[in-house]
Amino acid sequence: MAIKPPRNIKPNFEFPQVMLAPVAGVTDRANREIARSLGCPLTFSELISARGIKEKNKGSMQMLEECRGEHPLVVQVFGNEIDSMYEAVRFLDDMGVEGINLNLGCPVKKVFKNKSGCGLTVFPTELVYVIRAMRKATDRHLSVKIRAGVNHRSLHYRLIGDIAQGEGCDAIIFHARTRMMGFGGEAQWHWIRDLKEYLDIPVIGNGDVVDAVSAKRMLDQTGCDGVMIARGSYGNPWIFQEILDYLNDGRLLSPPSLQDRLETLLRHLRLAAEWKGEPRGIREMRKQFGWYIKGYRNVRPLREAVNRLDSLKEVTAAINQWAENLSADPYETYEIAAPPSNRAVSLRIG
Ligand SMILES: Cc1cc2nc3c(=O)[nH]c(=O)nc-3n(C[C@H](O)[C@H](O)[C@H](O)COP(=O)(O)O)c2cc1C
Repeated sequence: MAIKPPRNIKPNFEFPQVMLAPVAGVTDRANREIARSLGCPLTFSELISARGIKEKNKGSMQMLEECRGEHPLVVQVFGNEIDSMYEAVRFLDDMGVEGINLNLGCPVKKVFKNKSGCGLTVFPTELVYVIRAMRKATDRHLSVKIRAGVNHRSLHYRLIGDIAQGEGCDAIIFHARTRMMGFGGEAQWHWIRDLKEYLDIPVIGNGDVVDAVSAKRMLDQTGCDGVMIARGSYGNPWIFQEILDYLNDGRLLSPPSLQDRLETLLRHLRLAAEWKGEPRGIREMRKQFGWYIKGYRNVRPLREAVNRLDSLKEVTAAINQWAENLSADPYETYEIAAPPSNRAVSLRIG
């Protein structure tokens, strides 16, 4: 029997049924804005150090500056020092974010060894004090994002769930892999079902949702209250609306056309340049760039060209040139494999 939540205050914000995951180095402001503009109801900041916020560290402040005017927004923090966690949450509360999330899943060795991310879950007593301090600092929506455990021999998700719920968290996000699994192997959705049945607070499932069908399958199989998507949104910001429509009336949207993809890619590039400036914003888009056009013909020379360019103007010209060459070949069929799903659809351009 899980520990009951102690608090009666209902935050005036709740997690929706579908949301974009925090992904360090990917879900920056430009990425989040694109997702929201295409129907994603909730986005999370990238991971930010609580101590960095407390000490007004330049990098952390810059990341928060990137969240300016963004609603609804959940800021994700990591750390383990009680005073830093308290001060950081006070700061975020004053900033007016809708929610604060504690990262308890980061598997990176440096973070883990520093008793942060997944590493903090190995010290449940300290975790209690950390969450208690965060809860004390705000009445806003407070959640944690966890993994199942360190490895298959230490599956402690029920214990961490108990602590989170007992200390007054409003929801828990569960990436159904152990630290040892990293991001590979199949996410074990039956763990999500188990946690959902065990706890009273909402449980958001995460891991291997790549399209509307898999989102519905996770909801049906686990009973979870919502799904969070990371890699399934790479180059596919349409996934959120696709899922919401499918859940609403069983209708599957047709995949975006090449024109939609290119227009969105160009808008994404413009936003990256606006938020990070040139050349940084454009350089940082190199990785995401490829995801939008993966599977089309003649992508390689375009990618190679773009990897050498760092101005918005040059990259836009290269993309337009590529698209022109492509549409000059009207009866060619192009395979689009929306990463990382196995879904393959064919598109006739012309
Ligand atoms: C490159 C990369 C960076 C990530 N950064 C974060 C992060 O900053 N905070 C976090 O909670 N999870 C992070 N994650 C984990 C994702 O949010 C998510 O839990 C995981 O990828 C499983 O979901 P998926 O199967 O939909 O990709 C990261 C994942 C990847 C691949």
